[in-house]
Amino acid sequence: MTGEARRIAGRIAVRASAAHDLPAIAAIYRHHVLNGAATFEIVPPDDAEMGRRREETLARALPHLVAELDGAIAGYAYAAPYRPRAAYRYTVEDSVYVAPQLSRRGVGRALLEALIDACTALHHRQMVAVIGDRANAASIGLHAACGFTRVGTLPNVGFKFGRWIDSVLMQRVLGGGATTPPRGKRRDVRLAPRATGCHR
Ligand SMILES: CC(C)(COP(=O)(O)OP(=O)(O)OC[C@H]1O[C@@H](n2cnc3c(N)ncnc32)[C@H](O)[C@@H]1OP(=O)(O)O)[C@@H](O)C(=O)NCCC(=O)NCCS
Repeated sequence: MTGEARRIAGRIAVRASAAHDLPAIAAIYRHHVLNGAATFEIVPPDDAEMGRRREETLARALPHLVAELDGAIAGYAYAAPYRPRAAYRYTVEDSVYVAPQLSRRGVGRALLEALIDACTALHHRQMVAVIGDRANAASIGLHAACGFTRVGTLPNVGFKFGRWIDSVLMQRVLGGGATTPPRGKRRDVRLAPRATGCHR
């Protein structure tokens, strides 16, 4: 971290997002949809759709956070279920997006560390990052810096900007990981009687 980044890091405040943050959140995401391969979306969602997604996160009792720097939104992060089937219920997937003009100043780290803490407190046990583009050094570096290890690559699963794009999978243990049985209400979720097969 540079000296400037260290100075800025002390001024970053991470908090739960609010509805009035949505225009800033949508603007940050719009930039990354249009200019990067971290997300496989191609058309930027509008503020209303970003609001619907935020509500979905909150309805699942998962964290949806923003980082503020000098009163402006510098980035956001949220957790989602890694996959919908019941047995995945202690595993979450993270997403982190930082305003492009504020990259490499500690905003992503502050957000991801807060997200890890929040998901650990909610008794989740694994966090997975599905990173668009093996050339996404910033995301791979951020996740490595926050304790994730690379567990695989799905080659050529995306097509954006006229080229095939890989997904890099990284994973981090939360709390006790697999060393103890799960805790909390979600242990009692019953599987649907007719749930069969081996699906995501
Ligand atoms: C990935 C992203 C969230 C990183 O946020 P950031 O605020 O720039 O990252 P930070 O400044 O907090 O960096 C934390 C650490 O990550 C690593 N890192 C960050 N950017 C890096 C880069 N370009 N190359 C290598 N490592 C990098 C470093 O270890 C860094 O610590 P250091 O600066 O002390 O060396 C940001 O670049 C972004 O929004 N990218 C586009 C969207 C995206 O890829 N999101 C992740 C999808 S899940």
